[in-house]
Amino acid sequence: MVKKMLYNWKSWWAAHRNRNYFVIKMGVSVLVVGIAFRLLYSRSLDIPPVSDNPFLESTQISTPPVVSVISQENADQIALQGYGTKFTENGTKCDLFTGDWIPNEAGAIYTNNSCSFIEDHQNCLKNGRPDTGYLYWRWKPRGCDLPRFDPVMFLDLMRNKSWALIGDSISRNHVQSLLCQLSTVEKAVEVYHDDSYKFRRWVFPLHNLTVSIIWSPFLAEAAIFEDMNGVSSADIELQLDILDKNWTEPYKNLDYMIFSSGKWFVKAAIYYENKTILGCHYCPKQNFTELGIEFAYRTVIRNVFNYIIASKHKGMIFYRTSTPDHFENGEWFSGGVCERKSPAKVGEFELNELNKILRGVELEEFEKASAKASENGVTLKLFDVNPLSLLRPDGHPGPYRFFQPFAKDKTAKVIIDCLHWCLPGPIDSWNDLLMEMIMNS
Ligand SMILES: *[C@@H]1O[C@H](CO)[C@@H](O)[C@H](O)[C@H]1NC(C)=O
Ligand SMILES: *[C@@H]1O[C@H](CO)[C@@H](O)[C@H](O)[C@H]1NC(C)=O
Ligand SMILES: *[C@@H]1O[C@H](CO)[C@@H](O)[C@H](O)[C@H]1NC(C)=O
Ligand SMILES: *[C@@H]1O[C@H](CO)[C@@H](O)[C@H](O)[C@H]1NC(C)=O
Ligand SMILES: *[C@@H]1O[C@H](CO)[C@@H](O)[C@H](O)[C@H]1NC(C)=O
Ligand SMILES: *[C@@H]1O[C@H](CO)[C@@H](O)[C@H](O)[C@H]1NC(C)=O
Ligand SMILES: *[C@@H]1O[C@H](CO)[C@@H](O)[C@H](O)[C@H]1NC(C)=O
Repeated sequence: MVKKMLYNWKSWWAAHRNRNYFVIKMGVSVLVVGIAFRLLYSRSLDIPPVSDNPFLESTQISTPPVVSVISQENADQIALQGYGTKFTENGTKCDLFTGDWIPNEAGAIYTNNSCSFIEDHQNCLKNGRPDTGYLYWRWKPRGCDLPRFDPVMFLDLMRNKSWALIGDSISRNHVQSLLCQLSTVEKAVEVYHDDSYKFRRWVFPLHNLTVSIIWSPFLAEAAIFEDMNGVSSADIELQLDILDKNWTEPYKNLDYMIFSSGKWFVKAAIYYENKTILGCHYCPKQNFTELGIEFAYRTVIRNVFNYIIASKHKGMIFYRTSTPDHFENGEWFSGGVCERKSPAKVGEFELNELNKILRGVELEEFEKASAKASENGVTLKLFDVNPLSLLRPDGHPGPYRFFQPFAKDKTAKVIIDCLHWCLPGPIDSWNDLLMEMIMNS
């Protein structure tokens, strides 16, 4: 059954490869990841608690290793490293998101075995990734200096505050980086998780800081019919005009939020508005109008921004742009790999068509929303990590998504992940930027 589906898909792909049906191709390509996943892992004994394909997501945290929380003395040292520096070099405003990755001997402030929050699938060093060069870079905006994330200062600033990262598995990736960095000073304590570990909340008791991860891959209400292996039994039903209560309900109690979305919009879905079917994205068996992902993403993101603007909530809200993947010499399902060991130069990687669509929508809708937000006294910021992430093809797990993938067989066929980020890794720099945006607001 599975083989047959794969075969059919291959001929479909071959037939359409030369036509410009990119968006449809993406829709179909993501359908297949579930199949590939099932093909390779259905007989695996350690099925992870969740795997929300298409993007090889699943939560899997092993029993915490010995945790070495660094001493206050070390923490103070870390605090001294950045924050003496003047921010701008010549008084003009500096674009934090235009810059270069420069060598950084200091590396990460936590290690693969000192942080218990790293998901096994992203714990590249522990899984046996042999090279470590990708750890020794930091983001340097042109024209100003970006201090390193300072966990002591962050925790101090965030006393009694509540944070939430709202989105898909990249948001989960990010929250783990934040928890690891903060836990070098005070260990986070988990106070809540749902059955699937998709919704979780931690507190830093000494600082009364709460950090949550809220699973909401579409930000809008969606019925998703996928099993543990990411195999869908029916198309997603996405309510374009109804925001996901999973974030609107806690919204008013949150002081800081980082929203993100995008990737899940490439999936096959039936689109609803006013509870009636409006059309779909990739539904060849049903006779609905193909509306495309741009339409759907734009509609939802606009509703999200309108909600934020109308609520006049006093919190600080970031919209994080969606991040690119770096499969080379193929896609994730056709032998694509990410084997680079250092950052790329500007221009070496281009966003693929799908990412261009998502990014276009994000920039345009943010631009429109931003003016209205400031008129209404709402703090809304674009957390534009997309361009700097595009320069880090070296920062993904690749084959080191699983423990020692080549231990038994040097040519073993494994799932390659060139989308999520190794921890520690480039995504840690996002917190340098976040800190700077908070300090300068
Ligand atoms: C990663 O962890 C392993 C043991 O789990 C340790 O031997 C290694 O030194 C660590 N690597 C780094 C760069 O911290
Ligand atoms: C400030 O520095 C930036 C980057 O080095 C440069 O582009 C800009 O022209 C400078 N501005 C002034 C007023 O010197
Ligand atoms: C923690 O912060 C919350 C929200 O600001 C506040 O209501 C609560 O009193 C604080 N608790 C303690 C123990 O400081
Ligand atoms: C945090 O909350 C506690 C209890 O409400 C209060 O005593 C304390 O002053 C607050 N600290 C800050 C920095 O807001
Ligand atoms: C919201 O949370 C519920 C309960 O965990 C979950 O079933 C639902 O899929 C979530 N909504 C979205 C849009 O993911
Ligand atoms: C939504 O549906 C209701 C009843 O089904 C209808 O009365 C209403 O006009 C519709 N609204 C829009 C905006 O289409
Ligand atoms: C699909 O819908 C169109 C217009 O609503 C109709 O002309 C066509 O016959 C339908 N096709 C099928 C296979 O139902």
